[in-house]
Amino acid sequence: MSASLTAFAYLVASVCFIMALRGLSSPKSARMGNIFGIVGMIIAILTTVALPSVTSFDAIVIGIAIGGAIGAVIALKIAMTALPQLVAAFHSLVGLAAVLVAGAAFFSPEAYGIGTVGHIHTGSLIEMSIGTAIGAITFTGSIIAFGKLQGLVTGKPLVFKGQHMINLGLGIALVLVVVWLAATESSTAFWLLIALSLIIGVTLILPIGGADMPVVVSMLNSYSGWAAAGIGFTLANPALIVVGALVGSSGAILSYIMCKGMNRSFFNVILGGFGGETAAPGMDDLGDRTVRQGSAEDAAFIMEQANSVIIIPGYGMAVAQAQHALAEMVSVLEEKGVRVRYAIHPVAGRMPGHMNVLLAEANVPYDDVLELDEINSDFASTDVTFVIGANDVTNPAAKTDKSSPIYGMPVFNLDESGTVLFIKRSLASGYAGIDNPLFYKDNTMMLFDDAKKMCENIVKSLKGGGH
Ligand code: TAP
Repeated sequence: MSASLTAFAYLVASVCFIMALRGLSSPKSARMGNIFGIVGMIIAILTTVALPSVTSFDAIVIGIAIGGAIGAVIALKIAMTALPQLVAAFHSLVGLAAVLVAGAAFFSPEAYGIGTVGHIHTGSLIEMSIGTAIGAITFTGSIIAFGKLQGLVTGKPLVFKGQHMINLGLGIALVLVVVWLAATESSTAFWLLIALSLIIGVTLILPIGGADMPVVVSMLNSYSGWAAAGIGFTLANPALIVVGALVGSSGAILSYIMCKGMNRSFFNVILGGFGGETAAPGMDDLGDRTVRQGSAEDAAFIMEQANSVIIIPGYGMAVAQAQHALAEMVSVLEEKGVRVRYAIHPVAGRMPGHMNVLLAEANVPYDDVLELDEINSDFASTDVTFVIGANDVTNPAAKTDKSSPIYGMPVFNLDESGTVLFIKRSLASGYAGIDNPLFYKDNTMMLFDDAKKMCENIVKSLKGGGH
Protein backbone atom coordinates (compact mmCIF):
# COMPACT_ATOMS: atom_id res chain seq x y z
CA MET A 1 0.00 0.00 0.00
CA SER A 2 1.46 3.41 -0.94
CA ALA A 3 2.13 5.98 1.78
CA SER A 4 -0.57 8.34 0.50
CA LEU A 5 -3.18 5.57 0.31
CA THR A 6 -2.27 4.54 3.88
CA ALA A 7 -2.65 8.14 5.05
CA PHE A 8 -6.03 8.38 3.29
CA ALA A 9 -7.29 5.10 4.80
CA TYR A 10 -6.22 6.23 8.29
CA LEU A 11 -8.04 9.52 7.71
CA VAL A 12 -11.24 7.66 6.76
CA ALA A 13 -10.87 5.46 9.87
CA SER A 14 -10.39 8.54 12.06
CA VAL A 15 -13.54 10.16 10.62
CA CYS A 16 -15.43 6.93 11.38
CA PHE A 17 -14.23 7.08 15.00
CA ILE A 18 -15.38 10.70 15.32
CA MET A 19 -18.79 9.69 13.88
CA ALA A 20 -18.86 6.78 16.36
CA LEU A 21 -18.38 9.15 19.31
CA ARG A 22 -21.04 11.45 17.93
CA GLY A 23 -23.48 8.56 17.51
CA LEU A 24 -22.83 7.26 21.01
CA SER A 25 -23.87 10.59 22.52
CA SER A 26 -27.58 9.69 22.25
CA PRO A 27 -29.44 6.38 22.71
CA LYS A 28 -31.26 6.98 19.40
CA SER A 29 -28.06 7.07 17.36
CA ALA A 30 -25.93 4.75 19.53
CA ARG A 31 -26.40 1.69 17.30
CA MET A 32 -25.24 3.68 14.25
CA GLY A 33 -22.33 5.01 16.31
CA ASN A 34 -21.25 1.45 17.10
CA ILE A 35 -21.39 0.52 13.41
CA PHE A 36 -19.15 3.49 12.55
CA GLY A 37 -16.74 2.35 15.27
CA ILE A 38 -16.61 -1.20 13.89
CA VAL A 39 -16.07 0.00 10.29
CA GLY A 40 -13.35 2.44 11.42
CA MET A 41 -11.56 -0.30 13.35
CA ILE A 42 -11.71 -2.74 10.41
CA ILE A 43 -10.22 -0.08 8.08
CA ALA A 44 -7.52 0.78 10.65
CA ILE A 45 -6.53 -2.87 11.21
CA LEU A 46 -6.46 -3.77 7.48
CA THR A 47 -4.43 -0.64 6.66
CA THR A 48 -1.91 -1.41 9.40
CA VAL A 49 -1.57 -5.04 8.35
CA ALA A 50 -0.99 -3.89 4.74
CA LEU A 51 1.95 -1.65 5.75
CA PRO A 52 5.14 -2.61 3.91
CA SER A 53 6.92 -3.08 7.23
CA VAL A 54 4.59 -5.99 8.07
CA THR A 55 6.24 -9.06 6.59
CA SER A 56 4.64 -11.98 8.42
CA PHE A 57 0.95 -12.47 9.11
CA ASP A 58 0.86 -15.67 11.19
CA ALA A 59 1.15 -14.08 14.64
CA ILE A 60 -1.29 -11.30 13.64
CA VAL A 61 -3.96 -13.73 12.40
CA ILE A 62 -3.58 -15.99 15.46
CA GLY A 63 -3.72 -12.95 17.79
CA ILE A 64 -6.85 -11.55 16.13
CA ALA A 65 -8.54 -14.98 16.18
CA ILE A 66 -7.81 -15.65 19.87
CA GLY A 67 -8.50 -12.06 21.03
CA GLY A 68 -11.61 -11.74 18.85
CA ALA A 69 -13.02 -15.05 20.11
CA ILE A 70 -12.44 -14.14 23.77
CA GLY A 71 -13.97 -10.67 23.20
CA ALA A 72 -17.04 -12.10 21.45
CA VAL A 73 -17.71 -14.67 24.19
CA ILE A 74 -17.34 -12.04 26.94
CA ALA A 75 -19.57 -9.55 25.10
CA LEU A 76 -22.31 -12.15 24.68
CA LYS A 77 -22.16 -13.35 28.29
CA ILE A 78 -21.58 -10.18 30.27
CA ALA A 79 -24.39 -8.92 32.54
CA MET A 80 -25.28 -5.25 32.16
CA THR A 81 -24.44 -4.54 35.82
CA ALA A 82 -20.94 -5.99 35.34
CA LEU A 83 -20.04 -3.63 32.47
CA PRO A 84 -18.05 -1.13 34.58
CA GLN A 85 -15.64 -3.84 35.79
CA LEU A 86 -15.40 -5.30 32.29
CA VAL A 87 -14.39 -1.90 30.96
CA ALA A 88 -11.83 -1.62 33.78
CA ALA A 89 -10.40 -5.05 32.90
CA PHE A 90 -10.12 -4.11 29.21
CA HIS A 91 -8.40 -0.82 30.06
CA SER A 92 -5.77 -2.68 32.01
CA LEU A 93 -4.91 -4.53 28.78
CA VAL A 94 -4.61 -1.24 26.85
CA GLY A 95 -2.16 -0.02 29.52
CA LEU A 96 -0.18 -3.26 29.38
CA ALA A 97 -0.06 -3.10 25.56
CA ALA A 98 1.39 0.42 25.75
CA VAL A 99 4.13 -0.77 28.14
CA LEU A 100 4.96 -3.81 25.97
CA VAL A 101 5.16 -1.77 22.75
CA ALA A 102 7.37 0.79 24.49
CA GLY A 103 9.60 -2.05 25.78
CA ALA A 104 9.90 -3.50 22.27
CA ALA A 105 10.78 -0.06 20.86
CA PHE A 106 13.33 0.56 23.65
CA PHE A 107 15.20 -2.69 23.13
CA SER A 108 14.85 -2.88 19.28
CA PRO A 109 14.73 0.77 18.19
CA GLU A 110 15.91 -0.07 14.66
CA ALA A 111 12.68 -1.96 13.99
CA TYR A 112 10.75 1.22 14.71
CA GLY A 113 13.08 3.61 12.89
CA ILE A 114 13.78 5.62 16.04
CA GLY A 115 17.56 5.16 16.17
CA THR A 116 19.84 2.35 17.35
CA VAL A 117 20.45 0.82 20.79
CA GLY A 118 22.26 3.47 22.86
CA HIS A 119 21.33 6.17 20.33
CA ILE A 120 17.53 6.45 20.42
CA HIS A 121 16.34 9.95 19.42
CA THR A 122 15.67 12.04 22.54
CA GLY A 123 12.17 12.96 21.33
CA SER A 124 11.29 9.28 20.94
CA LEU A 125 12.68 8.51 24.41
CA ILE A 126 10.47 11.20 25.94
CA GLU A 127 7.35 9.95 24.08
CA MET A 128 8.20 6.38 25.01
CA SER A 129 8.72 7.12 28.69
CA ILE A 130 5.48 9.09 28.98
CA GLY A 131 3.57 6.31 27.16
CA THR A 132 5.20 3.69 29.44
CA ALA A 133 4.43 5.60 32.64
CA ILE A 134 0.77 6.24 31.75
CA GLY A 135 0.40 2.67 30.44
CA ALA A 136 1.79 1.09 33.63
CA ILE A 137 -0.32 3.35 35.89
CA THR A 138 -3.38 2.45 33.81
CA PHE A 139 -2.50 -1.25 34.05
CA THR A 140 -2.34 -1.59 37.85
CA GLY A 141 -4.92 1.17 38.48
CA SER A 142 -7.45 -0.63 36.29
CA ILE A 143 -6.76 -3.96 38.00
CA ILE A 144 -7.50 -2.37 41.40
CA ALA A 145 -10.64 -0.71 39.95
CA PHE A 146 -11.72 -4.09 38.57
CA GLY A 147 -11.09 -5.73 41.96
CA LYS A 148 -13.14 -3.11 43.79
CA LEU A 149 -16.06 -3.26 41.37
CA GLN A 150 -16.03 -7.08 41.35
CA GLY A 151 -15.89 -7.17 45.16
CA LEU A 152 -12.45 -8.86 45.22
CA VAL A 153 -10.86 -5.85 46.94
CA THR A 154 -12.81 -3.99 49.62
CA GLY A 155 -14.98 -1.23 48.16
CA LYS A 156 -14.32 0.93 51.23
CA PRO A 157 -11.92 3.82 50.70
CA LEU A 158 -8.52 2.63 52.02
CA VAL A 159 -7.26 5.90 53.39
CA PHE A 160 -3.99 5.93 55.31
CA LYS A 161 -1.93 8.61 56.97
CA GLY A 162 0.47 10.47 54.71
CA GLN A 163 -1.20 8.98 51.63
CA HIS A 164 -1.13 12.24 49.65
CA MET A 165 2.51 12.91 50.57
CA ILE A 166 3.51 9.40 49.46
CA ASN A 167 1.73 9.85 46.12
CA LEU A 168 3.33 13.26 45.67
CA GLY A 169 6.79 11.81 46.43
CA LEU A 170 6.23 8.95 43.98
CA GLY A 171 5.03 11.44 41.33
CA ILE A 172 8.14 13.59 41.72
CA ALA A 173 10.38 10.48 41.60
CA LEU A 174 8.61 9.46 38.38
CA VAL A 175 9.32 12.80 36.70
CA LEU A 176 13.00 12.53 37.72
CA VAL A 177 13.27 9.02 36.28
CA VAL A 178 11.69 10.21 32.99
CA VAL A 179 14.39 12.90 32.81
CA TRP A 180 17.11 10.35 33.67
CA LEU A 181 15.84 7.97 30.98
CA ALA A 182 15.57 10.67 28.31
CA ALA A 183 19.07 11.94 29.12
CA THR A 184 20.95 8.63 29.37
CA GLU A 185 18.83 5.87 27.76
CA SER A 186 19.72 3.77 30.81
CA SER A 187 17.88 0.46 30.92
CA THR A 188 17.91 0.67 34.75
CA ALA A 189 15.94 3.92 34.40
CA PHE A 190 13.51 2.16 32.03
CA TRP A 191 12.81 -0.68 34.50
CA LEU A 192 12.60 1.77 37.40
CA LEU A 193 10.11 3.85 35.43
CA ILE A 194 7.90 0.80 34.93
CA ALA A 195 8.17 -0.27 38.60
CA LEU A 196 7.38 3.21 39.94
CA SER A 197 4.42 3.63 37.60
CA LEU A 198 3.00 0.22 38.54
CA ILE A 199 3.20 1.22 42.24
CA ILE A 200 1.57 4.62 41.59
CA GLY A 201 -1.34 2.88 39.82
CA VAL A 202 -2.01 0.98 43.06
CA THR A 203 -1.46 3.81 45.56
CA LEU A 204 -3.54 6.23 43.46
CA ILE A 205 -6.63 4.00 43.10
CA LEU A 206 -6.62 2.02 46.37
CA PRO A 207 -7.77 4.95 48.58
CA ILE A 208 -10.74 5.67 46.31
CA GLY A 209 -14.05 4.11 47.44
CA GLY A 210 -15.66 1.41 45.26
CA ALA A 211 -18.59 3.73 44.68
CA ASP A 212 -16.38 6.28 42.93
CA MET A 213 -14.93 3.64 40.63
CA PRO A 214 -17.07 4.55 37.57
CA VAL A 215 -15.48 8.01 37.54
CA VAL A 216 -12.08 6.40 38.05
CA VAL A 217 -12.70 3.91 35.23
CA SER A 218 -13.61 6.77 32.92
CA MET A 219 -10.46 8.59 34.02
CA LEU A 220 -8.34 5.48 33.41
CA ASN A 221 -10.04 5.21 30.02
CA SER A 222 -8.76 8.69 29.34
CA TYR A 223 -5.25 7.71 30.53
CA SER A 224 -5.23 4.63 28.30
CA GLY A 225 -6.10 6.89 25.34
CA TRP A 226 -3.17 9.20 26.09
CA ALA A 227 -0.87 6.19 26.54
CA ALA A 228 -1.96 4.92 23.11
CA ALA A 229 -1.41 8.38 21.59
CA GLY A 230 2.10 8.49 23.13
CA ILE A 231 2.91 5.10 21.63
CA GLY A 232 1.41 6.32 18.32
CA PHE A 233 4.17 8.94 18.21
CA THR A 234 6.82 6.27 18.90
CA LEU A 235 5.45 4.12 16.10
CA ALA A 236 4.84 7.16 13.86
CA ASN A 237 1.29 5.85 13.38
CA PRO A 238 -1.18 8.73 12.80
CA ALA A 239 -4.27 6.56 13.32
CA LEU A 240 -3.06 5.55 16.79
CA ILE A 241 -2.33 9.18 17.65
CA VAL A 242 -5.80 10.34 16.53
CA VAL A 243 -7.67 7.47 18.18
CA GLY A 244 -5.62 7.80 21.37
CA ALA A 245 -6.38 11.51 21.54
CA LEU A 246 -10.11 10.87 20.91
CA VAL A 247 -10.25 8.26 23.68
CA GLY A 248 -8.15 10.46 25.97
CA SER A 249 -10.29 13.56 25.56
CA SER A 250 -13.69 11.80 25.53
CA GLY A 251 -12.76 9.90 28.73
CA ALA A 252 -11.74 13.17 30.38
CA ILE A 253 -14.99 14.87 29.32
CA LEU A 254 -17.03 11.92 30.60
CA SER A 255 -15.26 12.02 33.99
CA TYR A 256 -16.02 15.74 34.14
CA ILE A 257 -19.73 15.18 33.32
CA MET A 258 -20.01 12.50 36.01
CA CYS A 259 -18.33 14.70 38.63
CA LYS A 260 -20.65 17.56 37.71
CA GLY A 261 -23.73 15.29 37.99
CA MET A 262 -22.60 14.34 41.51
CA ASN A 263 -21.58 17.91 42.35
CA ARG A 264 -18.10 16.71 43.26
CA SER A 265 -14.82 18.14 42.08
CA PHE A 266 -12.49 15.91 40.13
CA PHE A 267 -9.85 16.30 42.87
CA ASN A 268 -12.39 15.33 45.51
CA VAL A 269 -12.84 12.02 43.67
CA ILE A 270 -9.12 11.47 43.03
CA LEU A 271 -8.12 12.28 46.61
CA GLY A 272 -10.44 9.49 47.73
CA GLY A 273 -12.25 8.65 50.92
CA PHE A 274 -15.88 9.12 49.78
CA GLY A 275 -18.75 6.66 50.03
CA GLY A 276 -18.85 3.06 51.22
CA GLU A 277 -21.89 1.06 52.19
CA THR A 278 -23.72 1.55 55.50
CA ALA A 279 -26.06 -0.89 57.15
CA ALA A 280 -29.81 -0.42 56.82
CA PRO A 281 -31.48 1.07 59.89
CA GLY A 282 -33.76 -1.60 61.40
CA MET A 283 -37.41 -0.80 61.97
CA ASP A 284 -36.57 -0.51 65.71
CA ASP A 285 -33.91 2.16 65.12
CA LEU A 286 -36.27 4.74 63.65
CA GLY A 287 -36.95 6.75 66.84
CA ASP A 288 -40.07 8.84 66.34
CA ARG A 289 -39.94 8.52 62.58
CA THR A 290 -42.44 6.20 60.93
CA VAL A 291 -42.41 4.39 57.62
CA ARG A 292 -45.58 3.59 55.70
CA GLN A 293 -45.33 0.21 54.00
CA GLY A 294 -47.52 -1.01 51.19
CA SER A 295 -48.11 -4.08 49.04
CA ALA A 296 -48.24 -4.65 45.29
CA GLU A 297 -52.04 -4.41 45.47
CA ASP A 298 -51.82 -1.02 47.22
CA ALA A 299 -49.41 0.25 44.55
CA ALA A 300 -51.61 -1.06 41.72
CA PHE A 301 -54.67 0.60 43.24
CA ILE A 302 -52.97 3.97 43.73
CA MET A 303 -51.51 4.06 40.21
CA GLU A 304 -54.75 2.98 38.52
CA GLN A 305 -56.48 5.99 40.05
CA ALA A 306 -53.78 8.42 38.86
CA ASN A 307 -53.92 10.62 35.78
CA SER A 308 -50.18 11.01 35.55
CA VAL A 309 -47.29 8.84 36.81
CA ILE A 310 -43.56 9.56 36.61
CA ILE A 311 -41.13 6.67 36.95
CA ILE A 312 -37.66 7.25 38.38
CA PRO A 313 -35.38 4.27 37.78
CA GLY A 314 -32.10 3.83 39.65
CA TYR A 315 -29.32 1.38 40.31
CA GLY A 316 -31.65 -1.17 41.99
CA MET A 317 -33.61 -1.58 38.73
CA ALA A 318 -30.35 -2.61 37.06
CA VAL A 319 -29.47 -5.01 39.90
CA ALA A 320 -32.92 -6.62 39.75
CA GLN A 321 -33.03 -6.54 35.91
CA ALA A 322 -36.55 -5.21 36.38
CA GLN A 323 -36.77 -3.18 33.16
CA HIS A 324 -38.94 -5.68 31.24
CA ALA A 325 -41.37 -6.18 34.14
CA LEU A 326 -41.47 -2.39 34.57
CA ALA A 327 -42.22 -1.80 30.86
CA GLU A 328 -45.04 -4.35 31.07
CA MET A 329 -46.46 -2.59 34.13
CA VAL A 330 -46.37 0.71 32.23
CA SER A 331 -48.14 -0.69 29.19
CA VAL A 332 -50.95 -2.07 31.41
CA LEU A 333 -51.27 1.35 33.09
CA GLU A 334 -51.34 3.08 29.69
CA GLU A 335 -54.09 0.73 28.53
CA LYS A 336 -56.01 1.96 31.57
CA GLY A 337 -55.57 5.58 30.40
CA VAL A 338 -52.78 6.63 32.79
CA ARG A 339 -50.13 8.97 31.35
CA VAL A 340 -46.70 7.50 32.21
CA ARG A 341 -43.27 9.02 31.63
CA TYR A 342 -39.75 8.10 32.74
CA ALA A 343 -37.40 10.59 34.41
CA ILE A 344 -33.66 9.95 34.12
CA HIS A 345 -31.11 11.54 36.42
CA PRO A 346 -27.68 12.14 34.82
CA VAL A 347 -25.96 9.89 37.39
CA ALA A 348 -28.70 7.33 38.07
CA GLY A 349 -27.23 3.84 38.20
CA ARG A 350 -23.50 3.35 38.05
CA MET A 351 -22.46 4.51 34.60
CA PRO A 352 -23.50 7.19 32.15
CA GLY A 353 -26.59 6.21 30.18
CA HIS A 354 -27.11 3.12 32.42
CA MET A 355 -30.87 3.62 32.73
CA ASN A 356 -31.33 4.65 29.08
CA VAL A 357 -29.69 1.44 27.88
CA LEU A 358 -31.85 -0.75 30.14
CA LEU A 359 -35.08 1.00 29.12
CA ALA A 360 -34.11 0.77 25.44
CA GLU A 361 -33.54 -2.97 25.97
CA ALA A 362 -37.15 -3.19 27.20
CA ASN A 363 -38.31 -1.26 24.07
CA VAL A 364 -39.46 1.82 25.99
CA PRO A 365 -40.06 4.59 23.37
CA TYR A 366 -37.32 7.25 23.52
CA ASP A 367 -39.91 10.03 23.58
CA ASP A 368 -41.29 8.80 26.93
CA VAL A 369 -37.83 9.06 28.52
CA LEU A 370 -37.01 12.55 29.77
CA GLU A 371 -33.92 14.10 31.32
CA LEU A 372 -33.91 15.71 34.78
CA ASP A 373 -34.12 19.29 33.45
CA GLU A 374 -36.91 18.42 31.01
CA ILE A 375 -39.24 16.93 33.60
CA ASN A 376 -38.29 18.45 36.96
CA SER A 377 -40.97 21.14 36.84
CA ASP A 378 -43.71 18.53 36.15
CA PHE A 379 -43.65 16.84 39.56
CA ALA A 380 -46.01 19.45 41.00
CA SER A 381 -48.70 18.29 38.55
CA THR A 382 -47.96 14.56 38.98
CA ASP A 383 -50.22 12.30 41.05
CA VAL A 384 -47.79 9.45 41.61
CA THR A 385 -44.02 9.15 41.38
CA PHE A 386 -42.84 5.56 41.18
CA VAL A 387 -39.22 5.25 42.31
CA ILE A 388 -37.75 1.91 41.33
CA GLY A 389 -34.38 1.05 42.88
CA ALA A 390 -33.29 4.70 43.02
CA ASN A 391 -32.24 6.39 46.23
CA ASP A 392 -29.60 9.16 46.16
CA VAL A 393 -31.02 10.82 43.05
CA THR A 394 -34.23 11.49 44.99
CA ASN A 395 -32.65 12.55 48.29
CA PRO A 396 -33.84 16.06 49.31
CA ALA A 397 -30.75 16.40 51.57
CA ALA A 398 -28.94 17.39 48.36
CA LYS A 399 -30.98 20.60 48.46
CA THR A 400 -31.39 21.20 52.17
CA ASP A 401 -28.51 19.70 54.19
CA LYS A 402 -25.24 21.57 53.73
CA SER A 403 -23.34 18.89 55.67
CA SER A 404 -24.54 16.10 53.36
CA PRO A 405 -21.94 14.55 51.03
CA ILE A 406 -24.37 15.00 48.15
CA TYR A 407 -25.22 18.63 48.98
CA GLY A 408 -25.52 20.58 45.73
CA MET A 409 -26.14 17.53 43.51
CA PRO A 410 -29.19 18.24 41.34
CA VAL A 411 -32.07 15.99 42.48
CA PHE A 412 -35.67 15.45 41.43
CA ASN A 413 -38.29 17.76 42.99
CA LEU A 414 -40.11 14.89 44.67
CA ASP A 415 -41.23 17.14 47.51
CA GLU A 416 -43.72 18.64 45.00
CA SER A 417 -45.14 15.29 43.81
CA GLY A 418 -48.33 13.61 44.98
CA THR A 419 -47.86 10.08 46.38
CA VAL A 420 -44.32 8.72 46.14
CA LEU A 421 -43.97 4.94 45.83
CA PHE A 422 -40.50 3.55 46.58
CA ILE A 423 -39.48 0.03 45.58
CA LYS A 424 -36.39 -1.19 47.36
CA ARG A 425 -35.62 -4.12 49.61
CA SER A 426 -34.95 -2.24 52.86
CA LEU A 427 -34.21 1.22 54.25
CA ALA A 428 -30.55 0.76 53.31
CA SER A 429 -28.57 3.63 51.86
CA GLY A 430 -27.40 3.80 48.27
CA TYR A 431 -24.09 4.79 46.75
CA ALA A 432 -23.45 7.85 48.92
CA GLY A 433 -24.04 5.86 52.13
CA ILE A 434 -26.61 8.28 53.57
CA ASP A 435 -30.15 8.04 54.88
CA ASN A 436 -33.00 9.39 52.72
CA PRO A 437 -35.55 11.56 54.64
CA LEU A 438 -38.07 10.96 51.87
CA PHE A 439 -38.68 7.40 53.18
CA TYR A 440 -40.32 8.84 56.31
CA LYS A 441 -42.63 11.40 54.70
CA ASP A 442 -46.42 11.10 54.99
CA ASN A 443 -47.02 10.90 51.27
CA THR A 444 -44.38 8.18 50.76
CA MET A 445 -45.23 4.48 50.62
CA MET A 446 -42.38 1.97 50.78
CA LEU A 447 -42.77 -1.19 48.71
CA PHE A 448 -40.14 -3.48 50.25
CA ASP A 449 -39.19 -6.16 47.73
CA ASP A 450 -36.90 -6.97 44.85
CA ALA A 451 -37.77 -4.51 42.07
CA LYS A 452 -38.54 -7.16 39.44
CA LYS A 453 -40.71 -9.25 41.77
CA MET A 454 -42.63 -6.19 42.92
CA CYS A 455 -43.31 -5.03 39.32
CA GLU A 456 -44.49 -8.50 38.35
CA ASN A 457 -46.85 -8.59 41.33
CA ILE A 458 -48.18 -5.11 40.51
CA VAL A 459 -48.89 -6.27 36.94
CA LYS A 460 -50.83 -9.25 38.31
CA SER A 461 -52.85 -6.95 40.56
CA LEU A 462 -53.50 -4.47 37.74
CA LYS A 463 -54.75 -7.30 35.57
CA GLY A 464 -57.07 -8.26 38.39
CA GLY A 465 -55.40 -11.58 39.25
CA GLY A 466 -53.86 -10.69 42.61
CA HIS A 467 -50.90 -12.90 43.51
P1 TAP B 1 -28.42 4.46 44.75
O1 TAP B 1 -28.54 5.72 45.49
O2 TAP B 1 -27.13 3.75 44.76
O3 TAP B 1 -29.56 3.51 45.34
C1 TAP B 1 -29.89 2.30 44.76
C2 TAP B 1 -30.89 1.60 45.67
O4 TAP B 1 -31.31 0.44 44.97
C3 TAP B 1 -30.30 1.13 46.97
O5 TAP B 1 -30.61 2.00 48.03
C4 TAP B 1 -30.88 -0.29 47.15
O6 TAP B 1 -31.67 -0.32 48.34
C5 TAP B 1 -31.76 -0.48 45.93
N1 TAP B 1 -31.65 -1.83 45.37
C6 TAP B 1 -30.54 -2.57 45.18
N2 TAP B 1 -30.86 -3.76 44.67
C7 TAP B 1 -32.21 -3.79 44.53
C8 TAP B 1 -33.14 -4.75 44.06
N3 TAP B 1 -32.75 -5.97 43.61
N4 TAP B 1 -34.44 -4.42 44.04
C9 TAP B 1 -34.87 -3.22 44.50
N5 TAP B 1 -34.02 -2.27 44.96
C10 TAP B 1 -32.71 -2.56 44.98
O7 TAP B 1 -28.85 4.60 43.22
P2 TAP B 1 -29.31 5.86 42.37
O8 TAP B 1 -30.44 6.57 43.03
O9 TAP B 1 -29.46 5.33 40.98
O10 TAP B 1 -28.10 6.86 42.45
C11 TAP B 1 -26.91 6.61 41.78
C12 TAP B 1 -25.77 6.94 42.70
O11 TAP B 1 -24.58 6.43 42.10
C13 TAP B 1 -25.59 8.44 42.90
O12 TAP B 1 -25.18 8.72 44.21
C14 TAP B 1 -24.49 8.77 41.91
O13 TAP B 1 -23.75 9.91 42.28
C15 TAP B 1 -23.65 7.50 41.98
N6 TAP B 1 -22.80 7.32 40.79
C16 TAP B 1 -23.37 7.30 39.57
C17 TAP B 1 -22.57 7.20 38.46
C18 TAP B 1 -23.21 7.26 37.13
S1 TAP B 1 -22.38 7.88 35.94
N7 TAP B 1 -24.42 6.84 36.95
C19 TAP B 1 -21.21 7.07 38.59
C20 TAP B 1 -20.66 7.06 39.88
C21 TAP B 1 -21.48 7.18 40.96
P3 TAP B 1 -31.94 -1.72 49.08
O14 TAP B 1 -30.61 -2.30 49.39
O15 TAP B 1 -32.73 -1.34 50.28
O16 TAP B 1 -32.72 -2.58 48.13
